Amino acid sequence: MSAALILKDLCRTFVRGGVPFLAVDHVSLTVREGDFVTIIGRSGSGKSTLLGMAAGMLSPSSGTVELCGKVLNGKNDTELSRLRGSVVGYIPQDAPALPALTVLENVMLPACLYPRGGDIEGAARLLLDRFGIAHLADSMPAELSGGELRRAMIARSLINRPRLLVADEPTSDLDVETTRSIMDEFSHLNAEGMTVLIVSHDLESLKYGSRVYSMESGKLSEGNAFER
Ligand SMILES: Nc1ncnc2c1ncn2[C@@H]1O[C@H](COP(=O)(O)OP(=O)(O)OP(=O)(O)O)[C@@H](O)[C@H]1O
Ligand SMILES: [Mg+2]
Repeated sequence: MSAALILKDLCRTFVRGGVPFLAVDHVSLTVREGDFVTIIGRSGSGKSTLLGMAAGMLSPSSGTVELCGKVLNGKNDTELSRLRGSVVGYIPQDAPALPALTVLENVMLPACLYPRGGDIEGAARLLLDRFGIAHLADSMPAELSGGELRRAMIARSLINRPRLLVADEPTSDLDVETTRSIMDEFSHLNAEGMTVLIVSHDLESLKYGSRVYSMESGKLSEGNAFER
């Protein structure tokens, strides 16, 4: 099976208190098409930094990212946005909504920017329904609860039918039932062919993935290091 994502020897340096440190330390990972990969790890271990680079949002200090057969290194912002818009659904940890657009318009936005054909509004309404917030289509983001907004942002990440979903703690702070329904949806989407790479603090969520990795001080290892 071909690879949706290949990370090779990826590093990212930040400066903290004037001292450089490796937030992501020589990480290599291959996510095959159809995989459902979960990354767990303590706060500050580098998970969001890694996911940001995997989704082409953050440039690595060294190493390479290959997304659906395309090497990201050296691509300019326009090329990166186009590629992201067509193959990746990225849900950042603090996914922002555009406050002046309705929930429905927010969900439709990526498909308006990077059209893939079909009925955009119909697809957006279907996604809102799938995540249990169809009744909020015409609300403004400021009128939604944290969990409702999170689900709207998840719907937005899926509007372009991405081959790869990259989700950074999409269910943190949500109740057990809502978490389960979101993870069930991810599971269905995975069964329909979408590759999933997810960061989660919720050990419950591990049962949904086909493979689990642990992040500790910028280093990634296969398996659940917190169970050993
Ligand atoms: N822009 C930045 N500049 C400097 N340091 C940063 C920057 N972004 C992240 N860091 C640092 O890099 C380390 C890894 O951060 P990251 O956000 O990747 O952690 P995380 O594993 O996602 O944590 P959490 O579970 O709390 O979301 C942290 O020590 C953080 O302070
Ligand atoms: Mg994080």
